[in-house]
Amino acid sequence: MAAADRHRDRIVMITGAAKGIGAATARAFADEGATLVLADIDTASLEKTHAGLTGQGHISIRLDVTSSAEWKAAMDAVGAAFGRLDVLVNNAGWGELRSIFDTTPEQWRASLAVNLDSVFLGTMAAMPWLEKSGDAAIVNVSSIRSRVAGWGSGPYSAAKAGVEMFSRVTAVECAQSGRQVRANSIHPGFVDTPLSKAIPAAARDERIRTVPQGRLAEPEEIAAGILFLASREAAYVNGSAMVIDGAFTAV
Ligand SMILES: NC(=O)c1ccc[n+]([C@@H]2O[C@H](COP(=O)([O-])OP(=O)(O)OC[C@H]3O[C@@H](n4cnc5c(N)ncnc54)[C@H](O)[C@@H]3O)[C@@H](O)[C@H]2O)c1
Repeated sequence: MAAADRHRDRIVMITGAAKGIGAATARAFADEGATLVLADIDTASLEKTHAGLTGQGHISIRLDVTSSAEWKAAMDAVGAAFGRLDVLVNNAGWGELRSIFDTTPEQWRASLAVNLDSVFLGTMAAMPWLEKSGDAAIVNVSSIRSRVAGWGSGPYSAAKAGVEMFSRVTAVECAQSGRQVRANSIHPGFVDTPLSKAIPAAARDERIRTVPQGRLAEPEEIAAGILFLASREAAYVNGSAMVIDGAFTAV
């Protein structure tokens, strides 16, 4: 099967699809023939991403991934439009650089909500529609920060480590219960997106110096991994974690 056809007629939902890795992933799936469900809180950017996609029939939904009620409404809309879901990419998330000694309980909870609760809520809300696929995949966007500590990444690292382990449990429980739903996590290194552009220039340069390949990743390089994990080529890749980091965690 040609790579360009891997996702033809697949229904693919991506959270945080307005910008960065999510938007690049949406473009890559659309280029391979998928029909997209784009979800984000930034509806203005979401419309721009939607307008730039190849193909037809894509839908956009305003969804705050921290809200159980909004997940239910979003999945009702997906069910009404398509009657099934083939791929869920839990991508929405953000991090702030702040020492754990300066982190308030509210800041801790906010990070856990957007980076970890979101994955549980999305997985559970989407599951009835993923089960209807017969060949479904969940890709959860974690981070190298699930494995390598860095100054100021306390709640973010804790959440992303939770995403990695929750992905494995999802894979095991789906497989052992006969559900045709695979689940894997993906662990980007430092990627050139609006999220990383918000970091002060000096900190950004310091990050680049620590990457053996000597550059940031392009969002399209993370999207390529997500598309593989979601494809039928990865039919036996389940409960695994794919690191895409320019050898950062290899040293
Ligand atoms: N950029 C990096 O270096 C990097 C590295 C490792 C992991 N990641 C992870 O990749 C994912 C995407 O990051 P990015 O760099 O593309 O970020 P980004 O800021 O460029 O895009 C994230 C998108 O998520 C949306 N979003 C934020 N909160 C939301 C919410 N509550 N509900 C719905 N949508 C929400 C934003 O509006 C935005 O469109 C995140 O989970 C991030 O933690 C990024």
